[in-house]
Amino acid sequence: MKKKFLNLGSQPIANSFLPNVSKKTIKKEFFYKLTVSFDDKDYLVSVTNPVNPKIQYTDKYAHRASESKTMRKAFKNIALKLNKRFKPKKIMEIGSNDGVFIKNFPQNNVIAIEPCKNLAKITAKKFKTYPNFWNQKLAHKIFKNKKKADLIFSANTISHIPNLKETFKAIEFSLSENGIFVIEDPSLSSVVINNSYDQFYDEHVYIFSALAISNIAKKNNLRLFDIENISTHGGSLRYYICKNNSKYIITKNLIKVIKYEKKKSLNKLSTFKNFSKRVEKSKKDLIKLLNKLKKQNKKIISYGATYKSTTLFNYCNIDKRYIDYVTDTTINKQGKFTPGKHIPIISPKKGFNESVDYAFLGAWNFKKEILKKEKKFIKRGGKFITHVPFIKILS
Ligand code: TMP
Repeated sequence: MKKKFLNLGSQPIANSFLPNVSKKTIKKEFFYKLTVSFDDKDYLVSVTNPVNPKIQYTDKYAHRASESKTMRKAFKNIALKLNKRFKPKKIMEIGSNDGVFIKNFPQNNVIAIEPCKNLAKITAKKFKTYPNFWNQKLAHKIFKNKKKADLIFSANTISHIPNLKETFKAIEFSLSENGIFVIEDPSLSSVVINNSYDQFYDEHVYIFSALAISNIAKKNNLRLFDIENISTHGGSLRYYICKNNSKYIITKNLIKVIKYEKKKSLNKLSTFKNFSKRVEKSKKDLIKLLNKLKKQNKKIISYGATYKSTTLFNYCNIDKRYIDYVTDTTINKQGKFTPGKHIPIISPKKGFNESVDYAFLGAWNFKKEILKKEKKFIKRGGKFITHVPFIKILS
């Protein structure tokens, strides 16, 4: 049974950056109630009432996976690794974004699935691309009476699809006998340890654990056989799933991760109730710090117009009273306003300058890359603020 443990209040769509802040635009803004639940039967943590994907994945979808150096490198590395270990001939990616993963494979071996039409257009120039949502109907269209996929890859996408049963059934149909399904998504243990409640937003319908994925796979004639901890998105897990009867055996690493998750009590509601208390404290502490800095007339900006920041700004009620603007390198986010709280977004070139005293790390998951890049800011006395794993000024 699903049990609610966290209430993040009224939230807009995390990536619905506003083109202007006219009364008409603001009136049209869509809000929903963001609460998070734990299912004590299959250990799945999910947004209680997911938003309709058709509102989310439109032809205006802003996120470009290849914008970040960290992600470009990560996708290249995993493509090489999968090629070496499994030697797949037919590869499919679900949620191919701008092609950052598939571009590492031979053009004719790849099928891309991407419902956001603006992104699908990019990969369609080179790869066979279906601009559709992943489901059984599409799986049948692609694979009925055809050679099945040896590798189905999906990074930061499966956790976005509300109907998991449909998703996994379609996967089971599409995999070859010894084909593998590899998914990457932010991990529940990282969210709990980092107190990164901003990982919950409309797109992140699920925050998976190995315990939950193992249960879901089992229900759909699949099984989890291997797993890897990866650093992307503030701590993710890469799950290796195969058909029930395929040749792969469970790895030591999977046994270790399952043991660890049980030790961290990711199968107990009380863990999430405690997490919820820590989230409330994080909100209080952040407001307290921002109020203190504002009293000292400090200029605070936010670094990275992330979807995660949408949750945080709206939950903590942070707007232009505290944050002058948000800087972001993504060209199609610049000139827009953050969802719900309407903070202007500008380019770092324009906004990340001498006048800034404090920068809130909205893109905390790229902390390493950012701190390396912004040595000059730190050297001249600029400071970063983070809420992960608790509110602090980075020194
Ligand atoms: P994400 O966490 O959803 O991937 O979003 C990260 C956002 O942060 C993305 O819009 C790009 C932005 N960003 C910067 O503006 N500067 C940077 O140095 C990095 C790494 C990201």
